[in-house]
Amino acid sequence: MAPKHLTMDLDLKKEEIWEIFHLAKELKEKQKRGIPHELLKGKSLAMIFQKPSTRTRVSFEVAMTQLGGHALNLSSQELQLARGETIADTAKVLSRYVDCIMARVFDHQDIVELAKNSTVPVINGLSDKFHPCQALTDLFTIWEKFGTLENLTLVFVGDGDNNVTNSLLLLCARLGVNFRVACPEKYKTRKEILDLAKEDIEKNKVKIEILEDPKEAVKGADVIYTDTWVSMGRTDVKERLEAFKNYQVNKELLSFAKECVKVMHCLPAHRNQEITDEVMDGPNSIIFDQAENRLHVQKAILVKLLT
Ligand code: CP
Ligand code: NVA
Repeated sequence: MAPKHLTMDLDLKKEEIWEIFHLAKELKEKQKRGIPHELLKGKSLAMIFQKPSTRTRVSFEVAMTQLGGHALNLSSQELQLARGETIADTAKVLSRYVDCIMARVFDHQDIVELAKNSTVPVINGLSDKFHPCQALTDLFTIWEKFGTLENLTLVFVGDGDNNVTNSLLLLCARLGVNFRVACPEKYKTRKEILDLAKEDIEKNKVKIEILEDPKEAVKGADVIYTDTWVSMGRTDVKERLEAFKNYQVNKELLSFAKECVKVMHCLPAHRNQEITDEVMDGPNSIIFDQAENRLHVQKAILVKLLT
């Protein structure tokens, strides 16, 4: 039987996502109460990193430990990939040793190629196009905080054309959460992503809006979300800093939203660039709860894909 991969958000059906959320909640409670849950005893996860990571690397490794398994941290620079061994051969060989492969890559095609050649599940730990583990964690966190995902509006302020925005858009459409992006015209969400979400948008009657004015966009928002203005691998730094200068999530922007609006960021943050210290450390921020949930949600993803 072909393994089940998580290369991008749409690899999971709505029911599967809810199974992951309920399992994540259960595993989080067990972890907090010290109840063992070694559901992946003896299993190994290979983690390939082409780019830096703090949360993804540590949360996946700890996830495997808590589930009774083991994780191997493999920088692509230390693998024979660095000397030209193909992704396909790497996938075929690693599949003979481990039970799952998680990879963080520059080009999304590398994830597709890994999945095509692997006989064990492949998880996308971030590519230039998608960051599904992040978006799953984010929607889980919103569900945890609001007790529901119904009648909510998530507003993303900043780069409308990056991996986190793309994954959030696809997942919001799939789960029935209204999604608004406030971004400069030059960095707006691609039609290709909106096309991928089209069926879910119609089926779930979700409102997706792409706006330019951040103040207009945050009106009525339940959640304001931001991310770096310069994602890993982007080189047009100067142009971006100029283009996004009016898109900072600060106290003034929050004054246009509901008083109880929650603020999220996938991290790492460039403090006082896309978000001010005041907001990041302020009462509306749920950013560090969100970061913690990477662990609980990824444990559920691993259990779901490996058992
Ligand atoms: N949010 C996130 O993926 O963080 P890292 O880059 O630290 O893994
Ligand atoms: N969009 C960011 C996310 C980092 C977790 C990046 O790709 O750098």
